[in-house]
Amino acid sequence: MSGGLERAASIDDLRLRARRRLPRFAFDFVDGGAESETGLARNRSALDAVTLAPRYLVDLSAYDTETTLFGKAYAAPFGIAPMGFINMAWPGADLAFARLAARERIPHAISTAASTPLEVLAEAAEGFAWFQIYVSNDREMTAHFLDRAEAAGCEVLLVTVDVPTTGKRDRDIRNGLRIPFRPTPSILADLALHPRWSLGTLRAGAPHFANLSGARAGAYASMTLAEVQKRLLIADRFDWDGLKRLRDRWKGPLLLKGVMRADDAEKAAAAGCDGLVVSNHGGRQADYAPASAEVLPEIAAAAAGRMTLILDSGVRRGADIARAKALGAEFALAGRAFAYGAGAGGEAGAARAFDILKTELLRTMGQIGQPVFRKIGPEALGP
Ligand SMILES: Cc1cc2nc3c(=O)[nH]c(=O)nc-3n(C[C@H](O)[C@H](O)[C@H](O)COP(=O)(O)O)c2cc1C
Repeated sequence: MSGGLERAASIDDLRLRARRRLPRFAFDFVDGGAESETGLARNRSALDAVTLAPRYLVDLSAYDTETTLFGKAYAAPFGIAPMGFINMAWPGADLAFARLAARERIPHAISTAASTPLEVLAEAAEGFAWFQIYVSNDREMTAHFLDRAEAAGCEVLLVTVDVPTTGKRDRDIRNGLRIPFRPTPSILADLALHPRWSLGTLRAGAPHFANLSGARAGAYASMTLAEVQKRLLIADRFDWDGLKRLRDRWKGPLLLKGVMRADDAEKAAAAGCDGLVVSNHGGRQADYAPASAEVLPEIAAAAAGRMTLILDSGVRRGADIARAKALGAEFALAGRAFAYGAGAGGEAGAARAFDILKTELLRTMGQIGQPVFRKIGPEALGP
């Protein structure tokens, strides 16, 4: 393994390496949360507060982490969360994630705002790509993205519901991070101090809205990227009726991403959703929101076997994936864990993030005496 990545023992170590290798504004874009970042911290403290009770004298000769979702087997019970403009973390990051997904047989959720066209990512993911959509007020564009995702072979659709307004990220404001990118003197100095990121980004092209291409892009050609973002990523008129239209249109499994309340979970089940990603967007949207680990039990009770639940927000340790399972989810997604990996070492770094989470998960399973991941249930919870 190159560049000392093997000495990165934890996701936190990868984060520190990424912090050194990235310009400050790029690191902050990935690392930051909304406003005071109490929500970001709460995601961690809530997961840390969930104890798992060790159980010993158990036969551990056959570990099994395979998990089947919607008829497809995944080799590990966690995947890569959708992240827009993620080539900020490292040039080529989202393509590296897609390849990692194919290699490890885990899902990679392609963001509407991916830095690489969805067709390219889906091909590299070799059947392990999901698609995440922001349902904007441009219904034709929504239909266009869905057609492309389906044609590219994305089987699972994540419908992100937690961006009715832009998240207010104070670090981005302080850093002068604007789209389109306008280098300030401090950003230029930052770029000069991080030549590997800067040259790589120069070669690969600055992270942009790569899915905005082809025939439908014409209407947006004369707009600034900020305007395009406002029109295509903000779902300020998307409601339960809109969801029903979407449900009628998308034939495959459909999950709402960002549901944080039991009553919304009830409505989602009634609307025919196949599942939920219980998520607060990694603390990037509503600083005052509870942690997803805090609301998961009540959502699991409301879903009561009718929908598949996935947890994200705050996953930094393999034990978090076991915690999510014990609290009622089938699966977990991690966003920044993989982004820190890419920042720490490109494709090899993303792979290192996967290995760390997988190794930690297997050790957790050994400690709690449950070598078969899908059998982990509430009995694994400690006091
Ligand atoms: C840099 C970055 C970009 C993101 N972009 C998107 C996006 O385009 N669509 C989306 O649904 N969620 C997006 N998210 C949220 C993730 O999908 C996921 O919910 C979150 O990262 C989980 O928290 P974690 O980073 O603590 O694992 C983004 C997160 C990050 C860190």
